[in-house]
Amino acid sequence: MSNIGSYEERNKNFDWSIAEKELNYKNGDVINIGWYCSDRICEMGKANKLALVWEGLGGIEKKYTFNDIRLKSNTIAAFLKNLGIKNEERVCLFMDKMPELYIGFLGILKMGAIAQPLFSAFGDESLHVRLDNAQTTAIITQRKHVSKVRKIVDRMPYLKHIVIVDYDGKKPLREREISFSMDEAKQVENFDIFPTKAESPSVLHYTSGTTGQPKGVKHVHYSLISQYLTTKWVLDLQEDDIYWCTADPGWVTGTSYGIIGPWSLGITQCVLDTGFSAESWYKFIEKRKITMWYSAPTAIRSLMKAGNEIIKQHDLSSLRHLASVGEPLNAEAVIWSEKVFGKAFLDTYWQTETGSIMLTNFPGMKIKPGSMAKPFPGITATILDPDTYKEIMEPNKPGLIGFRPDWPAMMRTYWRNEETYNKKFVNGWYIPGDRSTIDADGYFWFVGRDDDVINTGGHLVSPFEVESALLEHESVAESAVVAKPDEVNMEVVKAFVTLKPGYEASDDLELQIMNFIRKKLSPLAMPQEIEYMKTLPKTRSGKIMRRVLHAKEWGEEIGDTSTLEDDE
Ligand code: PRX
Repeated sequence: MSNIGSYEERNKNFDWSIAEKELNYKNGDVINIGWYCSDRICEMGKANKLALVWEGLGGIEKKYTFNDIRLKSNTIAAFLKNLGIKNEERVCLFMDKMPELYIGFLGILKMGAIAQPLFSAFGDESLHVRLDNAQTTAIITQRKHVSKVRKIVDRMPYLKHIVIVDYDGKKPLREREISFSMDEAKQVENFDIFPTKAESPSVLHYTSGTTGQPKGVKHVHYSLISQYLTTKWVLDLQEDDIYWCTADPGWVTGTSYGIIGPWSLGITQCVLDTGFSAESWYKFIEKRKITMWYSAPTAIRSLMKAGNEIIKQHDLSSLRHLASVGEPLNAEAVIWSEKVFGKAFLDTYWQTETGSIMLTNFPGMKIKPGSMAKPFPGITATILDPDTYKEIMEPNKPGLIGFRPDWPAMMRTYWRNEETYNKKFVNGWYIPGDRSTIDADGYFWFVGRDDDVINTGGHLVSPFEVESALLEHESVAESAVVAKPDEVNMEVVKAFVTLKPGYEASDDLELQIMNFIRKKLSPLAMPQEIEYMKTLPKTRSGKIMRRVLHAKEWGEEIGDTSTLEDDE
């Protein structure tokens, strides 16, 4: 029996107080995600249950019980407090998927600061703009990534502490750097948890838009209510499940459903801190006896490509439930997964901003492969006319998705960017910026994004950020960046550039520019192709017409470009 039981029944008289009651929370109480995910689970008698099974390169493993994560998050919280860090100050987590990342997240929340997780593959420039916007007080990182912080530290007077969790004493620490070992520090049995309330800020996740710098999405401790219930009803986690969320906590899936969801339910989860390969993933499922697997379409497509023979070489019979998020999950992938694993990946749709699952398939519900299915109970979702923002009542007619912004995990603002935040709401609807249809049965079908943001392998990349970084390369005069179709990643970054006088187009220069972006921004933002142009298509007022280049890449009609002149 699934946790949700009947979708229709759950929808009748739905109220978020269902989750509040289960979590023993009443309006006005203290609510601290760090406490809920560790201390409360111990109080429920699960102190010795495994919380985290971590596997790194070479198969090394570390195991932590709920009591371990309670003690260690206390220890980290106390350490941060002793450094003088105050509640609501931002503490960045900049690490690979090591245990300190997961447990440090709880520690930061326990002492009332705001956790700011950032993807560890970010280069110095990507890191800098995000720390600068958040005016981050401390960064917790590992040896491997310290050099990127050192490169920008002089430009960050607000950054008081650089905490290194695996310092080996070999090279001297520099100013502001401090060593802290979660395991070697004196373990703190009792920590006075900061009395955060429903609206106290908890997490700041950065996401990319078409224009401007990345936006800091502010979440609050009350988000737990949505994250707990969606984990229970969609991911269907049950007491004996062994859960694997493949997302990195540098992104929202890795925190909402890679930390908060499973641990608030007292579920054992496994983490594989190595790169992707079909062989290592199947091996991991077999060895750890994974029962619930939450992943992403790009990974699923890569597994499809690796073929079915390799699946037969592994015992994957532990799997009982699979789900996916981040990009459109194509019908072929759904059908394939049902064939090879005996169960289909269930598509879930949501965003950094929404904090929790919005549209989704549920265990037991009829699957229409390729569809995002239906709103989570309590979520009012519709399709709006892009011009009038009125609801489209006709089935199968595409328009903008709209949500009534009234669920607990909804973002509270964009950090220091209220103006952009306000623009996301029209006529009482939150507009996530995606287009979809609804069929006659009420199922949602993703059509596309409503902006130029590139979704590569489930990660959003801002064309603006890449274009700006390209201009910093000595050879580049002008740049335009668009998505290019890709079989596995759905989209990859493609750049069009014109060169400054004195520079010759060559393959060598292309590689140089690619590398420059990879180091500065990240491997995700690195253009997979650079096309040299004599001139870029522009409006009469001189703005580059990205849409013309986009249409060319996707083999679409360019249409009458004169109409693009004003709004480009
Ligand atoms: O365009 C949608 C796409 O990813 C965007 C959100 O990206 P991000 O904030 O990074 O969060 C990703 C993980 C929650 C959405 O606006 N997206 C997400 N899920 C789906 C999707 N597109 C199609 N189908 C999905 N299931």
